Amino acid sequence: MDPKALKWTTLERSHYLYGVIYEALRLTYGVSARNPRIAREEDVVYQKGSYSYVIPNGTPIRMSSVLQHHDEEVFPDSYKYKPERWLDAACERNHELEKYLFTFSRGTRQC
Ligand code: HEM
Repeated sequence: MDPKALKWTTLERSHYLYGVIYEALRLTYGVSARNPRIAREEDVVYQKGSYSYVIPNGTPIRMSSVLQHHDEEVFPDSYKYKPERWLDAACERNHELEKYLFTFSRGTRQC
């Protein structure tokens, strides 16, 4: 098939193509340094399962895309390039996983 015959409107319906792009972004990290945030007034409560931590206000909290993108619970076999990890059982985009992509950061200061 002539590649010029491919239309963007067709391509953007390809869930696998999203997988290819997200997987490339996941493994190329973007900014790899830890990116600090400070809650100036309120304490931050972090809860996961039965664990709960209170982080006093004024404490810098940092996270990096490298740590996030190699969390084996979220991205098993994390050093492998696997575009299909971004698809769900029905081979559609797995929006639930997309929230763990940190290349452009998250929240109000994200790229
Ligand atoms: C692949 C390319 C890029 C990557 C990986 C990237 C990544 C990031 C990251 C990690 C941040 C920090 C956000 C934070 O502090 O939480 C950021 C901020 C920002 N980026 Fe990018 N960026 C990219 C390209 C661009 C381009 C092309 C532009 C502009 C045309 C841009 C504009 C900005 C701006 C304005 C901010 C500051 C946002 C804010 O603090 O409110 N970035 N970027």
